[in-house]
Amino acid sequence: MRKKIVAGNWKMHKDLAETEAFLGRLKEQVMPEEVSIIVAPPFTNLQHAFQSLRDHPVRVAAQNMHQSDKGAFTGEVSAAMLKSVGVETVILGHSERRAHFNETDDLLAEKVNTALGNDMTVIFCVGEELKDRKAGDQFEVVQNQLEKGLFHLSEDDWAHVVIAYEPVWAIGTGETASPEQAQQMHQFIRQAVTDHYSETVAEAVSILYGGSVKPANAKEIFGQPDVDGGLIGGAALEVESFMEIAKAFIE
Ligand code: 13P
Repeated sequence: MRKKIVAGNWKMHKDLAETEAFLGRLKEQVMPEEVSIIVAPPFTNLQHAFQSLRDHPVRVAAQNMHQSDKGAFTGEVSAAMLKSVGVETVILGHSERRAHFNETDDLLAEKVNTALGNDMTVIFCVGEELKDRKAGDQFEVVQNQLEKGLFHLSEDDWAHVVIAYEPVWAIGTGETASPEQAQQMHQFIRQAVTDHYSETVAEAVSILYGGSVKPANAKEIFGQPDVDGGLIGGAALEVESFMEIAKAFIE
């Protein structure tokens, strides 16, 4: 069975004290065993988060990393640096990084290679903008992102890849893709992986939905057959709403 995953992308939220408080409360919660839960704090709090969660099932991910191993890249963080503080998972290709930091498909393919080369797991984000959906181009856009960002990988690499479908028009807007729209795209993505690789690879890869997931809509979205969990922004910043979403699979 595919792994069910609920990951909280904190984006640029929470300083160290807020992170300590959040994780302290999180650790008081009963964790659903059938769901992998991940938090992705800002770089400055990764080491604290890893140490705080050392004996806990919740895992820690980074929100980004540089494609080079080391060098004169002021302000950047490498895969080895992340691993040295215990982080083994990285979110790559988030639409905010594509839009605000000019991350191209080619660059993202390099980052994916670097992460996998360092034995990390990648949560790779894809998703169309509103203009694409209005033009009916959403499948073409996502297909292109998959081809350029991931389809150069070997079959074996896919054991370390998670896909997150995040329609840009649904991020932070309160507008969610309908469960049918989410299912349609997730099915499309799984079919694209089947066509390029095999059904075995496609059936094993977890595909998360992201974009205004809240406790009120998580159950319906996660109930779709090709939706294996969520990448959560705003609602992941409070322990209660994050846990409600994480438990939406089972309750
Ligand atoms: P929201 O849940 O705030 O819409 O953010 C989604 C997201 O971008 C997660 O990566």
